[in-house]
Amino acid sequence: MKEEACAKVILFGEHSVVYGKPGIAAPVRSLRTSVSIAKASVLQIIFDRDIDEKERSRIVELIMLAARELGISSLEAKIGISSSIPFSAGLGSSASLSIALLKAIAGFNRIALTEDDLNAKALALEKQFHGNPSGIDNEVIVTDRIIFFEDGKSTVIIPGKPLHLLIADTGISSDTKKMVRKVRKQFVAYRSEMDGILKPMGELAGKAKDALEEGDLKELGLLMFQNHTLLADLGVSNQELDDLVKAADDAGALGAKLSGGGGGGVVIALVTDEKSERIRKAMEMTGAKVYPTVIS
Ligand code: PMV
Repeated sequence: MKEEACAKVILFGEHSVVYGKPGIAAPVRSLRTSVSIAKASVLQIIFDRDIDEKERSRIVELIMLAARELGISSLEAKIGISSSIPFSAGLGSSASLSIALLKAIAGFNRIALTEDDLNAKALALEKQFHGNPSGIDNEVIVTDRIIFFEDGKSTVIIPGKPLHLLIADTGISSDTKKMVRKVRKQFVAYRSEMDGILKPMGELAGKAKDALEEGDLKELGLLMFQNHTLLADLGVSNQELDDLVKAADDAGALGAKLSGGGGGGVVIALVTDEKSERIRKAMEMTGAKVYPTVIS
């Protein structure tokens, strides 16, 4: 049997969501993790691409944790993992793998999982790797819809118009745990200055929800640029991410911002269909790999 899970992008509110502010995330169905599982005499794990030893042991650990979460003590199965989601890029590759693994192992062992069960177990796995995740990644991937996320709860947003996004990967690893820790340190040391950044971030997410529902893409784009500026003020952007946002802006994007933990990883640009190719080329000129996708 085979199970899949998609990738995700955070449209608004990464980092501020950790401090109880609202965030908006969307599924990226064009990038996926797929897990196949079949009977075997011992546990065998097969990957579709070359991965280093560190990544391999992390995935083996994830499989063990997924089995344990499901109350399974020994896993005699051949597990095949393939993924088109770049690792450590802010696209939810680990949450996507956790969810596909949980669904596959549960199905193989005839364990029925509700969406809530799956979400809770995926969050438990995320905690092993990200310390204290807000839960937005697993929630959006399980829901497979655009969500407005606040205080661990989400509501679905129905967009007035489809979003044409270009996801541009810098190729620089984004270490979410490290970036979350960096923001936490600043939060403790400079509380009022940080509140001055996190509060407007939360307000942007509220405005973005309205713009999304109304299909006001021009307004949505402007809010994305503003969110990027606030993320840069927070100290989670870098030169490569700023250059990508500028390249997208200069080429006519409606909006652009870093997405995910930052310090590397991806920039997302909101584009019109007509200008998409031009903006894609401009972003590729910076050395990024670009994944176009449509979110509805
Ligand atoms: O880097 P990602 O895709 O795992 O996104 C992290 C989002 C943060 O807000 C920075 C952390 C969190 O737990 O919400």
